[in-house]
Amino acid sequence: MKSVQVEAFLNEILLRFIDFHLEPLVIFDPERYEILYLNEKARDFLGNISDLSALFQEDEYLNFIKLIRDCYTIEEKRVISFKREGNTKGILLFNLYPIAFDNYRTVIFTFCDITEKIKHKEEKRRKNAQLILQDKLKSIDFVTSSISHEINNICNFMINNFRITFQAWNDVLNLIREYEEENGEFIVGGISSSEVDKVIPRLMISLIDGINRISDTIDNFKRYVREGLKSDFSLIFVNDVIRRVVAILNHHIVLYTENFNINLEESLPKIKGNLQKLEQVIINLLINALQSLPDRQRGVYISTGLEGEKVYIEIKDEGMGIPKHIMPYIFEPFFSTKYSTGGSGLGLYLSKSIIEEFGGEIIVNSEENIGTTVKVYLPHESIQYGKF
Ligand SMILES: Nc1ncnc2c1ncn2[C@@H]1O[C@H](COP(=O)(O)OP(=O)(O)OP(=O)(O)O)[C@@H](O)[C@H]1O
Ligand SMILES: [Mg+2]
Repeated sequence: MKSVQVEAFLNEILLRFIDFHLEPLVIFDPERYEILYLNEKARDFLGNISDLSALFQEDEYLNFIKLIRDCYTIEEKRVISFKREGNTKGILLFNLYPIAFDNYRTVIFTFCDITEKIKHKEEKRRKNAQLILQDKLKSIDFVTSSISHEINNICNFMINNFRITFQAWNDVLNLIREYEEENGEFIVGGISSSEVDKVIPRLMISLIDGINRISDTIDNFKRYVREGLKSDFSLIFVNDVIRRVVAILNHHIVLYTENFNINLEESLPKIKGNLQKLEQVIINLLINALQSLPDRQRGVYISTGLEGEKVYIEIKDEGMGIPKHIMPYIFEPFFSTKYSTGGSGLGLYLSKSIIEEFGGEIIVNSEENIGTTVKVYLPHESIQYGKF
């Protein structure tokens, strides 16, 4: 074969090899921004797109072109978002291979659509985080059950002792009366003998009330953890959930702010969801709002209302705000700027997955040094969304 023939033959082999290439491949002219060649996979992927600008958002396309134009060494495993069918966003993983000969320069661009892979991975991470939470609840359930058993034992024991003390008191009271008749009024434990029959029983009743309250509180907490392990959906009034959360967190709230405001729209329709999970979301969001406050003068505002077909819960703070550069990451699992103070970075991630499970969404708006507004939208009972 003549050398010209060999060259043509090799070119043909090369083009066929490129066509067999498992990934879509594009040969691009970086000076004129033109596609020189598409292999079969790239043709299938791009359909009738003849210009790559149609594949990307404008700013993404400009970044991509700049990268190709300035590409003089191999660039591997870069990612870029692109427009998928139905105007949804997808992710491409691509490699760039610059090739120059004589005065001519091209860039070969291979890529694959990793959108589904990322979604799958994200779903897996989300499930893992749910498992971690369930696991945490299980350990808390174990601990609270043991503590509640101990505390209830002590409470029962104290109540039994009180019964005996109360009987003894009636006998002691008779003795006091006899002594008083003989010697006149006298003082017992700082109380006048004429008053003890009223004061001492009142003190005893308040002690028994206290013991019952300890026992009820621990039982409520145990029930709360148990309910959290279930995933039943029911019809819920969001205002009731907010009031409960505020009552639970009250001592925490006053530590962070003296400017706490609630404005709940009465007569809201019920929403469909899991009570404990919604409580967990509101606790997470409220704690984030409180933790962002630099001093106790800055405020937190919780309100509810109806917007279109959704019930909303708004938690607004006058805190430090979220810097723009971390905004894209706040919903990622284990992303936290508070590791040093015990943050795990699961609060917003779990809240988002819970709200999405209810068919709703969370929107965050923030301005540095001004504050953050988190709005949770939930479809109300008459509307059918989500995985009910
Ligand atoms: N209201 C807010 N104001 C300022 N920054 C916030 C606010 N809410 C969330 N953030 C930022 O988002 C990050 C992620 O929040 P997330 O609730 O998921 O985790 P965390 O609060 O750090 O830890 P965890 O909630 O697991 O204890 C926070 O570390 C913080 O930087
Ligand atoms: Mg948090």
